[in-house]
Amino acid sequence: MRIFLDTADIEQIKQGVKLGVISGVTTNPSLVSQAGVTDYESAIKEISTIIPDGPISAEVVVEGVGPMIEQARQIAKWAPNVVIKIPSTAEGLEVISALAKENIKVNCTLCFSVNQALLAALAGAAYISPFVGRLDDIGQDGMQLVEDILDVYDNYEEIDTQVIAASIRHPEHCVRAAMAGAHIATMPLKVIMQMIQHPLTDIGITRFLADFKSVSGK
Ligand code: G3P
Repeated sequence: MRIFLDTADIEQIKQGVKLGVISGVTTNPSLVSQAGVTDYESAIKEISTIIPDGPISAEVVVEGVGPMIEQARQIAKWAPNVVIKIPSTAEGLEVISALAKENIKVNCTLCFSVNQALLAALAGAAYISPFVGRLDDIGQDGMQLVEDILDVYDNYEEIDTQVIAASIRHPEHCVRAAMAGAHIATMPLKVIMQMIQHPLTDIGITRFLADFKSVSGK
């Protein structure tokens, strides 16, 4: 499973990339607002140079099939590795199929059901983003949706849409996404740092250093 950073914060992306485990970035209008980004285009261009080999998702922020297609075409020109986020709606499906014909890659976002994921794949989405944490928030098991989408996609070898477990809130989400075989999980840097942490690792380092010092005197 690959790990993407779910943020528009350039400093966090630079920090995350140093770990050597990040292979893409996903953004959305709320993340752009949280990061205080006022120029979305410049931010996406900069992120695209930080991770030139990985997909960088940027979301359309207009409604209506025509305007969404037009904006998606413009965003696709920002960088060669940009992927366009389109919502899981009827209009979104029309947009996805039009963009797929132009070889513009789409990350179909705001997915909350297997049916939405199936339709997105049929329309030609390169990625589907089930929002795990937001389903948990309303008392459902968000990760079950990821597992179900993977099961359905696995039934059809002609489907090559990759599943991005999104709206990841804690390390256990990541474990379940990997166990289910999700292609990608996208998450905040905070969750990646939590994944690294284990108290026994810290205790072990302290003990090793103390033991070495006691014999070497250094
Ligand atoms: O990638 C989707 C993600 O940004 C949504 O996360 O935490 O706002 O539900 P959240």
